[in-house]
Amino acid sequence: MAELGTDILKAATLLKQQELVAIPTETVYGLAANAFNEGAVLKIFAAKNRPSFDPLIVHTHSIQNFTQVATNIPDMAYRLAEAFLPGPLTLILPRAPQVPLLVTSGHDSVGVRIPNHPLTLRLLKELPFPLAAPSANPFGYVSPTTAQHVNQQLGDRIPYILDGGACQVGIESTIISFAAGEPEILRLGGLALEEIEKVLGKSIQRVKTSSSNPQAPGMLSSHYAPRKKVLVGNIKQLLPAFDPEKIGILSFSETYARVPQAHQVQLSATGNVFEAARNLFSGLRYLDAQPVEVILAEFVPEEGLGRAVNDRLRRAAF
Ligand code: TXA
Ligand code: MG
Repeated sequence: MAELGTDILKAATLLKQQELVAIPTETVYGLAANAFNEGAVLKIFAAKNRPSFDPLIVHTHSIQNFTQVATNIPDMAYRLAEAFLPGPLTLILPRAPQVPLLVTSGHDSVGVRIPNHPLTLRLLKELPFPLAAPSANPFGYVSPTTAQHVNQQLGDRIPYILDGGACQVGIESTIISFAAGEPEILRLGGLALEEIEKVLGKSIQRVKTSSSNPQAPGMLSSHYAPRKKVLVGNIKQLLPAFDPEKIGILSFSETYARVPQAHQVQLSATGNVFEAARNLFSGLRYLDAQPVEVILAEFVPEEGLGRAVNDRLRRAAF
């Protein structure tokens, strides 16, 4: 087991005192608290300005621990857990009574995941309780993929950020719900749908999202949005309508001669969708901070992680 560094020790001490700590995961940074303590969990909602109807994901370090937070776990859920965890997958399972309803926003189901990050796995092993953690951003804004992102927005509201470097996946976990028995996908994310369907041996229902779908709370259409206006389409066709000095560009792999280089982000020069996912949120944040009026973006190939990237682009543009 990895050595217990002073940073992990500090995080563990604060969490045991029912304080908040931002934690690194392979997807995005989370804002964590003791999942079994209502007072601690309330601090998450307050720090994020998060509405109480948006449930939190519970993080643990082993599949054996699932029974602490969930009951009647279907075999199919275990199959996915064995295949992909630790990893960018969240399973929605029937809630165990010891999980406060505050965590699940009153739902009888609970989201559970095992994040694949060495520091956070080590931290979770050190704690006698699981961690409730949403993404560590103000509600509605782009998720953070570095400790600096967290610090910029929430630094003065939380006592400690455990710095685990840049997130390797860069986009939130894929959420599969077993709440209705048969698996349904609630959120496209860091684990490709194709991979999940291969293990299940069948295709999965996609739950429709809308601005207020109670089945998929938190999947509001306007999630993950920067403050600047985002237009997604054919960048070349959109360009002539704007002053090139006043636009930002978020392209898959191309650059544009007439637009200042400092206002352009290529998600992946080599056209790789994994790299595009890893760079998406930092790219949106970067362009949001530039002196531009509009961000022009384009979709990436609609396959594998590309689907999740496109989903986030659609929401950013809403
Ligand atoms: O990758 C991730 O999942 C990151 C890292 C920190 O683990 N977490 C994350 O959490 O993205 P958050 O709070 O930003 O998104 C969690 C979403 C909720 O908005 C909701 O859509 C869904 O998970 N969720 C959680 N519990 C649920 C439940 N019981 N039923 C339905 N959806 C649930
Ligand atoms: Mg979030």
